[in-house]
Amino acid sequence: MAKLPILFYPSPIIRKKSALITSIDGELQRFIDDMVETMYAAPGMGLAAPQVGALKRVIVLDPSGDRASGRPMVLINPVLVAGEGQIVEEEGCLCIPDLNEPISRFKQVVVKAYGRNEKEIILEGADLLARILQHEIDHLNGILFIDHLSTAKRLLLKRRLKKSNRGD
Ligand code: NI
Repeated sequence: MAKLPILFYPSPIIRKKSALITSIDGELQRFIDDMVETMYAAPGMGLAAPQVGALKRVIVLDPSGDRASGRPMVLINPVLVAGEGQIVEEEGCLCIPDLNEPISRFKQVVVKAYGRNEKEIILEGADLLARILQHEIDHLNGILFIDHLSTAKRLLLKRRLKKSNRGD
């Protein structure tokens, strides 16, 4: 397994829509292993393929963020099929280091996807798991967590992020 380089905001790649996966072959399996390795090493609780430069609809996650859990989830072509309730919690992203902002998300979600064994998965998640699922599925559509902030707040942040990228 290899650690993959993570792309940082404002990389144009993380703004693109990822393509459906049509075949779960050996190459994809190796890529998924590398994504899992990259997520734990970051360390993070979730990673979407576009964050490492691959525009494929695959996400990996583990709410424990701990490799020792031995339970990384792998979701291929995940789709949010239902969402209920609203909850605001601080959220961050590996593509935008050192930024955490309160974001409103569904409290509970149902996600349909395929596992790496090609079997269909129906996953119900609440709270942190639900938040990670929504955050990572957003990545597959080129959406970042900062897009959920109010327009005024987003403009302020963009200015701040631009400045820090220039190093001043
Ligand atoms: Ni993210």
